[in-house]
Amino acid sequence: MTLSKQHIVWHAHKVTRAERAQKKSQKPCLLWFTGLSGSGKSTVANALDVALFERGYHTFLLDGDNVRHGLNRDLRFSDKDRVENIRRVGEVSKLFTDAGLIVLSAFISPFFSDRRLVRNLFPSGEFVEVFMDTPLEICETRDPKGLYKKAREGAIKDFTGIDSPYERPERAEIVLDTSELTVEACVDNLLKYMYERDLILS
Ligand code: ADX
Repeated sequence: MTLSKQHIVWHAHKVTRAERAQKKSQKPCLLWFTGLSGSGKSTVANALDVALFERGYHTFLLDGDNVRHGLNRDLRFSDKDRVENIRRVGEVSKLFTDAGLIVLSAFISPFFSDRRLVRNLFPSGEFVEVFMDTPLEICETRDPKGLYKKAREGAIKDFTGIDSPYERPERAEIVLDTSELTVEACVDNLLKYMYERDLILS
């Protein structure tokens, strides 16, 4: 339930979002990686993080498995909890971009409406949806954490792609299939996109 905002007043900060970004000589944005478990979200987001970091950009990486150990450890994998997971992570991503950072967020985020909610928190061009469109069969063969096997055996319920849905993005800014592209090629694609949209300088 959303509490009444009647007695909460928004405080305008003295140091603005633009000033924080300017101090870091960069344009803040959010790259939102969505896709099945095992599709390569975290791997590619990490590799891009390294590439940006080495180029001198100020970045931060948010990742489903890690955030669920702390901030979102009260949430499980029901539809309702996934909605709340993405809502919170969207807000945190927004705060980090307000701080002037380039944010990389890697979450299954299976529902279209939740991804749209996050997109709508950002000015046009600052939200970049990266759809890791690796086929389910490949993700399941990789099964890096052994979770698909457990889901097939019924030991894990509500597993995305098995007994919980994944709504494919229809208009993602970038689509990558890690069964066809190497991690390096994915990073090159992302850097090229960021460069062409003036999100980075080189
Ligand atoms: S999301 O659907 O709410 O966006 P999130 O990205 O935070 O999911 O977490 C997904 C990670 O949790 C997976 O990479 C996997 O390691 C683990 N996990 C555990 N149970 C499930 C499940 N039922 N469905 C999907 N992922 C699960």
